[in-house]
Amino acid sequence: MPTNKTFTMIKPDAVADGHSGAIIKMIEEAGFRIVALKKTQLTAERAGQFYAVHAERPFYESLCTYMSSGPIIPIILEKENAVADFRTLIGATNPDNADEGTIRKLFAKSMQANAIHGSDSDENAQIEGSFFFGNVEQF
Ligand code: GTP
Ligand code: MG
Repeated sequence: MPTNKTFTMIKPDAVADGHSGAIIKMIEEAGFRIVALKKTQLTAERAGQFYAVHAERPFYESLCTYMSSGPIIPIILEKENAVADFRTLIGATNPDNADEGTIRKLFAKSMQANAIHGSDSDENAQIEGSFFFGNVEQF
């Protein structure tokens, strides 16, 4: 059953470059409601757990180093058709292929340092939100 929720994370490059406010503004203007939000930092080990699905990929170690290189902003969002609409808002993984006006087109630096994460299914949105937030923080 669709949950109408998704999970996102503003990645270390975008936080370090001072783009968090602009990105959150775009997210709210696109009709998403913030359910939970905080600033935190992953260890390389926890980054590896979050991206465990990519453990066999050649870029995995580099991804874990990058994702633990500085603060991130994890956010749970709510909107009708949240997962799909949010993936549209952020654009393609590689910013060279991202549509004009998408968050990655505007703020991503590279395929790896691509500014923002977006869950790829309702199931993963639930798992990823729970990776960062307890029930008491979600309202
Ligand atoms: P997420 O929303 O972060 O999950 O990105 P995605 O779903 O668009 O892409 P995917 O899950 O395939 O990859 C996860 C993350 O790994 C990407 O967002 C990039 O940060 C990084 N990544 C993916 N492919 C590559 C690659 O070929 N090289 C490098 N260096 N990083 C990659
Ligand atoms: Mg992904």
